[in-house]
Amino acid sequence: MTQHSSAPATDTAPAIRTDATGEPTGWWREAVIYQVYPRSFADGNGDGMGDLPGIRARLPYLADLGVDAVWLSPFYASPQADAGYDVADYRAIDPMFGDLHDADALIRDAHELGLRVIVDVVPNHSSDRHEWFQRALREGPGSPLRDRYHFRPGRGRNGEEPPNDWESIFGGPAWTRTKNPDGTPGEWYLHLFAPEQPDFNWENEAVRDEFRSVLRFWLDMGVDGFRIDVAHGLVKAPGLPDMGRTEQLKLLGNQALPFFDQDGVHEIYRSWRRILDEYPGERIGVAEAWTPSPERTALYLRPDELHQAFNFHYLDTGWNAEALRAVIDESLDSMRPVGAPTTWVLSNHDVVRHRTRLGGGLGRARAASLLMLALPGSAYVYQGEELGLPEVTDLPDEVRQDPSFFRDNGQDGLRDGCRVPIPWTSTGPSYGFGSGGSWLPQPEEWAKLSVEEQTGDPTSTLEMYRSALAVRREHPALGAGDAVEWLDDFPAGVLAFRRRAADGSGRDFVCTVNTTGTPVELPTVPGRVLLASGEYDGGALPADTTVWWEA
Ligand code: GLC
Repeated sequence: MTQHSSAPATDTAPAIRTDATGEPTGWWREAVIYQVYPRSFADGNGDGMGDLPGIRARLPYLADLGVDAVWLSPFYASPQADAGYDVADYRAIDPMFGDLHDADALIRDAHELGLRVIVDVVPNHSSDRHEWFQRALREGPGSPLRDRYHFRPGRGRNGEEPPNDWESIFGGPAWTRTKNPDGTPGEWYLHLFAPEQPDFNWENEAVRDEFRSVLRFWLDMGVDGFRIDVAHGLVKAPGLPDMGRTEQLKLLGNQALPFFDQDGVHEIYRSWRRILDEYPGERIGVAEAWTPSPERTALYLRPDELHQAFNFHYLDTGWNAEALRAVIDESLDSMRPVGAPTTWVLSNHDVVRHRTRLGGGLGRARAASLLMLALPGSAYVYQGEELGLPEVTDLPDEVRQDPSFFRDNGQDGLRDGCRVPIPWTSTGPSYGFGSGGSWLPQPEEWAKLSVEEQTGDPTSTLEMYRSALAVRREHPALGAGDAVEWLDDFPAGVLAFRRRAADGSGRDFVCTVNTTGTPVELPTVPGRVLLASGEYDGGALPADTTVWWEA
């Protein structure tokens, strides 16, 4: 494979959906953003691993599905200790995914198809193979290069205890001891994730400069925005104080921690926002920020900071009408003061797929998806959820690659089950994922869930998503906004809300969701059926079913 040391030049900014007057469109306020996990989307060269040419060839599928943007999980040069979230070179593509020319071609094709492209940036930590970390190790204690990471002497008489009591999200201590260049035991370094992912020290100006430059590199390549990995982790409390307890950390907790969600992160995002705003076409920043509350998340979305953040509080809510109503209200209420759109997400590469997680099979998953897509703001769809894929729960241990599996069951333990390559065809090697095998084995039942099998079948989940996205684009009451009006005359267990048409046409929208296990009589017929997540004959609302109405 040819290697290229610099990015191919781009001559034009993306020319999609900017309005003729040059006024901002706020495209991201209502965008449906599709997450591509490059390892598992499409394999262009038949080596069993997804790649950029594979993704590029499948872009028409995404345009046809009706999404607005694609977010690509990391494809950078990486030893893959954490599936690419351990970056060794932020300006290079890992050869297993292709090269910079493939990235350039992918971005151009996407733009031609009217799709925006968001890439992951991983600023909390690098790979331990990153040149900076390697040099810091080589130069030994006292070197200014060590200040770009968190190196510390150990506690205890001989420095044999870690510098503090922080735990890694993947399990075990968040510190690993180094060897000095002469082979004697040396300082420790901090890694909130795997030992192969040393945390950067964001108090160091070189780190700040480097990431501003990395952002510009990709903006010059034409990307429309960044998903910021562990956006809440960059700044650590001064002095790295003990957290005072030892327990396995969850990303979504409600406790304040000395290494997450520190106020100092905001100044970093203000400087990033200034860079994004220098570029035409509304380039955006999306925070992966696991904070204790939606109010804390909103701080990342003040007008001079980022554009969106994932709504993990929504993802974390079970299939329960009252709880859903509460988290929807809380999400909308907390974003209103900062003027940012609320986002909604049910699945991603770190959590159990919602078909399995919500515990009600495909019917419930479909109902949950139609609820999500009816809410005001932006929605994130994880590859394969539009096919109704379940979590793969029986992967043999020997094929697993998730580092959290190997380290004390940290994070949620098993993340490979949502990363299995998706089926495109009903037959053939790896069900059309590629011409060879697949890096994680696919269940045989997935033949029936393939894109090929579902295309054109009006009862399929794929066609339901396609219809939902089409209605969402066309309907004047859907998309951006910050209000839902709850309809209270519906029975317990039914979520029902109205959204008002934004264009004065009077074409209001009503969404009814039966979260219970039995059919429920509706007190009134809300209007004309636009779409239903299950079979609906116009009478009682079936169990685990969402119906969209024009009212
Ligand atoms: C984020 C990513 C996850 C990764 C971790 C460390 O949570 O989504 O996949 O393991 O950060 O980079």
